[in-house]
Amino acid sequence: MAASLWMCRLRPRALKGPLKSIDNLCFKSQSKHNTSSVAVKSEIAQRKDQTDTIAERKPFYVLQEERLEQAERSVLINCPPKTNEKKFLKHLSSHGEINTCFFYESFGTYALVEFSKKESIASLQEWTIIPSIQHEATVPFKSRLVSLKLNNPGDLSSVPSSIQCLRQSAIPINELVQRLSGADTIDQQLYTLTETYQLTEDNVRLRFLVCSLLKDIAAAYFPECTVKLFGSSVNGFGKLGCDLDMFLDLDGISGRKSKKTAGPFTLEYQMKRVSSERAATQKILSVIGECIDQFGPGCVGVQKILNARCPLVRFAHQPSGFQCDLTANNRIAIKSSELLYLYGSLDARVRALVFTVRCWARAHAITSSIPGAWITNFSLAMMVIFFLQKRDPPIIPTLDQLKGLAGPTDKQLIEGHDCTFVSNINRINTTENTETLEQLLKEFFEFYGNFSFSKMSINIRKGKEQSKPDVSPLHIQNPFEQPLNVSKNVNQTQLERFVSLARDSAWILQQDGMSHPLGAGAQPWGLAALLLPSASQTGGKGKKRRKREPASERIKSLLESLKNNKPNSANGNGKRNFSTQSH
Ligand code: GTP
Ligand code: MG
Repeated sequence: MAASLWMCRLRPRALKGPLKSIDNLCFKSQSKHNTSSVAVKSEIAQRKDQTDTIAERKPFYVLQEERLEQAERSVLINCPPKTNEKKFLKHLSSHGEINTCFFYESFGTYALVEFSKKESIASLQEWTIIPSIQHEATVPFKSRLVSLKLNNPGDLSSVPSSIQCLRQSAIPINELVQRLSGADTIDQQLYTLTETYQLTEDNVRLRFLVCSLLKDIAAAYFPECTVKLFGSSVNGFGKLGCDLDMFLDLDGISGRKSKKTAGPFTLEYQMKRVSSERAATQKILSVIGECIDQFGPGCVGVQKILNARCPLVRFAHQPSGFQCDLTANNRIAIKSSELLYLYGSLDARVRALVFTVRCWARAHAITSSIPGAWITNFSLAMMVIFFLQKRDPPIIPTLDQLKGLAGPTDKQLIEGHDCTFVSNINRINTTENTETLEQLLKEFFEFYGNFSFSKMSINIRKGKEQSKPDVSPLHIQNPFEQPLNVSKNVNQTQLERFVSLARDSAWILQQDGMSHPLGAGAQPWGLAALLLPSASQTGGKGKKRRKREPASERIKSLLESLKNNKPNSANGNGKRNFSTQSH
C-alpha cells in the first residue's frame, strides 16, 4: 500500500468501537478539597468516569511528561486500617489543594494523594517526622513514601472506616471466562476482556509515582536524572499486575549536549572514564541497585542482573505490589513502547486483539512470567501488528509508512539506528477495513497456524514476511535494531506449541455454536471457550505430560459438548455443558 494512503488528516480523531483506553481520556477533575467524593465512589462508578469523556489522544512523549509531573506532586501514604477518610483528607489539605486521592491494599492500606502544587509536598515533608526506633537504627532518607500514625488512636477508632480500596490486580481467569460468557457477540467478548484487564487510571498514577520515587533515590547520585516508564505500563497493552519497566535517563543532564563556548577557553568536567557504554551502564546500575537495596523504602528482593544483554536491577516494590525492572541507556525500548502505543491508538481493534491474544497465550502457558524459551508478550504484540498490517485493506500502516509521515521534530537516530516515525496520530488516515473482531480473531489463528515460520521472518517495518536470515525457529525482526531478532529466545518446542494451539483455536471458532451464546446461562462459548485452562495446567501433579495432549484433549471435550448440545438438542436446562477444565 502506498504511503500516501495513510496521509494526513489533521482533524480530530474519533475512536472506533466502544472501547476507550485510559490514556485516551480526559478525566473529569474531581472536586478539589472535596474530601469524600474521591474515594466514596464505587470502583465501577470510578471506572465509568474514566470511560465517559474522550479527548484527543496526545503524543506519547507529551503524555509521559504530564504523567511524570503529576507523580512529582504525589505522595504514597500507608494508613492504619481504621483511618477516617474525611479527617485524613482534611488533615492533608492543610498542606494545599488535593487533586485526587484513592486507596488500595498492598501489604497494608495505602493512599495515593496527588496535590495541585508541588510545594505541598515540601510542606508535608516539613511536618513529617523521622521515626525513632528502639533497638534498631534507621537511615534518615526522606522519601515520598510515608506512614500515617494516629496520635490518639481512641479518637478515630470509634468512627467506622469509610475507606474504599480500589483493586489493583486483574480478576482471575475463571471469573473472566464467566464474564465473557455473558456477552452477546465475540466482538463484545474481546472488548470486555480488554476493558476488564487494561490498566486503570489509578493504577497508571501509581506506576508513575513509583517511577518518580525511584528517581528521588537515583537523584542522590545524579540530581538531574529522570526515570521513565516503558513497556506495557505505557504502551497501551498493559494488563493489571504487569511489571514496571523503568529506564534511568542521564541524557538530559545539563552540559551533556552543550556546545563549546566562544572565546579562548572551555571548562570541562573531570570524570572517571570507563571502557564502554555498557561498562558505564553496569557501573551506574550497580550503585543505584545498591542504593535501592540499602535505602529504598519498600524495595525488597533486589537483584542486580548486570551481565544480561540489557543490564538491569530487578526488585519488588512492596507498597505498590509492582515487580520492577530498572535499566539504563535503553532509549530504543522507549521508542518501541511509543510505536506500540501509536498502533494501539489508531484503531480500537488493535488493542482488543493484542489483549486477547496475550490473554489466550497466558491461559495456555504459551507465555510465562519466568524468563525462558517462551514467546514474550512483546513478540505477541508484534505478531498481531504484522497480521493487521497484512489485512486487505490493511488496518494499520507499516513502520516505513509511519516514517514517511514523520515531521522534522520526529527524526531520531539512536545509537546509529533510525527510530524516526510520526508522533502525531492525527497525521495518519483511518483504515477502510471494516472486518469484525470475530473475523480477525479467527483469521489471526489461521494466519499463524499456517505461517511458514521455518523460512520466513516477520517484519513490521515492511509489513511483509521476508526470508529468515538465520536458523532461529521464530524470527521477528526488531523494528529499530534491524539485525536483531526479538524472539531469539524462543525454541522449536515453544513455537510448535503456539502453532498447534493457534490451529486448534481456529478450528474451535469455526464450529457451529461457537460464535454466539446458546440458550440462557453463562456457559463458555466463543472467546470464553478458547480461554479454558488446558489439561497441562490443571492436570494432576506427578502425571507425565504427553506432547500436544492439551489441545487435542480440549478439542475432544469441546466436540462432545457440541454434539450433545446442538441448539435444538440442548440439555434439560437449555445450557450447554462445557466443562471449565479438560480432562
Ligand atoms: P509485559 O509482559 O506485560 O511486561 O510486556 P512488556 O511489553 O512490558 O514486555 P517486557 O517487560 O518483557 O519488556 C519491556 C519492553 O522492553 C517491551 O515493551 C519492549 O519495548 C522492550 N523489549 C522487550 N523484549 C525485547 C526484545 O527482545 N527486543 C527489544 N528490542 N525490545 C524488547
Ligand atoms: Mg513489562
